Amino acid sequence: MFSNASNFVEGVDTAFLFIFSIIGFFFIAITAVMVWFIFRYHEKKNPVATQIEGSNLLELLWTIIPVGIVLGMFFYGWEGYKPMRKAPPKGALEIKVTARMWNWAFTYPNGKRTDTLYVPQSKAVSLDLVALDVIHSLYIPAFRLKQDMVPGKKDRMWFIANTPGRYDVFCAEYCGLNHSYMLTEVVVLPDKDFAAWLGAEAPKINVATAAPGAAGKQLVQRTGCAACHSADGTKLTGPSFKGIFGHEIKVLTAGTERTITVDEAYIRKSIIEPGADIVKGFNSGLMLPYKDVLSDEDITAITDYIKTLK
Ligand code: CUA
Repeated sequence: MFSNASNFVEGVDTAFLFIFSIIGFFFIAITAVMVWFIFRYHEKKNPVATQIEGSNLLELLWTIIPVGIVLGMFFYGWEGYKPMRKAPPKGALEIKVTARMWNWAFTYPNGKRTDTLYVPQSKAVSLDLVALDVIHSLYIPAFRLKQDMVPGKKDRMWFIANTPGRYDVFCAEYCGLNHSYMLTEVVVLPDKDFAAWLGAEAPKINVATAAPGAAGKQLVQRTGCAACHSADGTKLTGPSFKGIFGHEIKVLTAGTERTITVDEAYIRKSIIEPGADIVKGFNSGLMLPYKDVLSDEDITAITDYIKTLK
């Protein structure tokens, strides 16, 4: 009766169903008694009110029964939660999850990096959770898993996925303007397919034959730049990429306003040291350095892409 999307579904759903059944029972029972009282003790049928002075038996019953019910809820809740907090099984696949405003990056043991989480079907997966800037929260509803990610704190999450398919991944902690952009997927592959996927190189864009800027465009989307920088002139959290290359802009450098021309050097500096020259009208401190995320080659590709957005 439970979905088998992860090894934790049954524990969580049992607690939920137990609590929900009790709620359902009392909703119906209390409503029924209420309606019955309206008829039974209506003034016409019961003109003189009966005063009840107290009943030890009743007092005991409505103390002991609710305590038993609440302890039952606690028991099922604890049983469902306990295995999540245990250390992941030995030999679990380690994937590093990096959250930042406003994207996810998943790094596999061989260095491969994606913005969608890929996991094998039957092997335990251990996620090493790192938040770079503010508190995020990794939430996979189908797996019944959610874990806050506090900057500077070591957090972990583990699971066995069980059923191939695609499931939503959300950020469940409001982390600023584009919090809702932190929506991605976990793709569960049969073990053999996962091994093949992990070993395969990401499809390379052939620079010689592809449209100018194609490789950079792919990087901008995959790295999450597009969450803050539009390609069509729309003002988001950061300046749009459209029509900036070769044009003069006003920036604030250490609080002093100056006019510069957007060139290769400026784009490179803005990626590696985003706080150095803040375009007038935008806030500093929102973008983290991409120094260890993007290579020189990547930055050149992104620059080529920006050049095409006239
Ligand atoms: Cu990250 Cu909300």
